[in-house]
Amino acid sequence: MADLLTIADLDVAYSGRPAVRGVSLTLRRGEILGLVGESGSGKTSLCSAITGVLPAGASVRAAGLRFDGRELTELSHEEMRRLRASRIGLVPQRPMTSLSPSSPVLRQLRWYHDGPDLADLLGQVGLRAVIDRPRDHPHRFSGGQLQRLLIVLAALARKPDLLIADEPTTTLDATVQAQVLRLLLDLRDRLGLAMLYVTHDLAVVAQICDRVGVMYAGRLVESGTVDQIFTAPRHPYTRALLAALPGRTEPGRRLGTIPGDARARSAGCAFAPRCPDAFARCGEEEPMPITIGADVVRCHRAEEDA
Ligand SMILES: Nc1ncnc2c1ncn2[C@@H]1O[C@H](COP(=O)(O)OP(=O)(O)OP(=O)(O)O)[C@@H](O)[C@H]1O
Ligand SMILES: [Mg+2]
Repeated sequence: MADLLTIADLDVAYSGRPAVRGVSLTLRRGEILGLVGESGSGKTSLCSAITGVLPAGASVRAAGLRFDGRELTELSHEEMRRLRASRIGLVPQRPMTSLSPSSPVLRQLRWYHDGPDLADLLGQVGLRAVIDRPRDHPHRFSGGQLQRLLIVLAALARKPDLLIADEPTTTLDATVQAQVLRLLLDLRDRLGLAMLYVTHDLAVVAQICDRVGVMYAGRLVESGTVDQIFTAPRHPYTRALLAALPGRTEPGRRLGTIPGDARARSAGCAFAPRCPDAFARCGEEEPMPITIGADVVRCHRAEEDA
């Protein structure tokens, strides 16, 4: 599979305070990459840097940000914004804020996609109700129905190459979540979309992702195939995440809590104060990323093992 997105050494900061630090990542066409890590680890900031939608006061710096063969850092701000806007779909977390409350859902949908296949498409994702009730406004539909609708919209409106979904199923019950996941997989197969899927739920990762990126304190500490991450995690933080997850393949299991103070930092590895495997060097020197095949890990211990 060809590379669609290559991020090299990306930093994001808010008013000078780092939120994403030196992240390098590759996403291939048709691939679903799950992004996990505890709250505040920089997942949304990473997504925002890719879509180019950041709040005032935020700064982005990267050695490279290559999308479909074009170096985005060489484009003007406006060119970059337009390119991303047309090629990258974003599934927002809260559906109600993305639809106008004062206009029928079907009419809003037709603004974006008015093809003859619309009814068929909606039927396939269990949204016939939108066709059957053409005059109903958003508040007449359930949160799950609207969430699925927004995924269809994000994927179909502009036929993007990349779909970024930032925790799209956290507010949904298990049945609706399963429908949304099936829909995402179907769209990937049908449109060849690549997907960046942010979640707290490792069971979801196991279900739909090809690869996983694990973030800690703004760093991508490990990436690998789903198989690699679940069966032979290399980073102690990844191992702690999995260990904190009872019955890890049960649906609906979320990231557990891991011991130690999440805010404690050292001059070296950010995870060192909580790491059961830390040794002297870990508290003094930041580990550099070690590449193992297509995977990466940032850990002195793994470096010694390699
Ligand atoms: N608009 C903002 N202004 C200032 N700081 C921000 C802003 N957005 C995020 N941050 C900070 O940047 C860091 C990373 O936040 P981010 O939202 O990317 O984390 P996250 O991994 O998406 O967390 P969550 O799982 O809670 O959504 C945090 O320390 C957060 O407080
Ligand atoms: Mg977030």
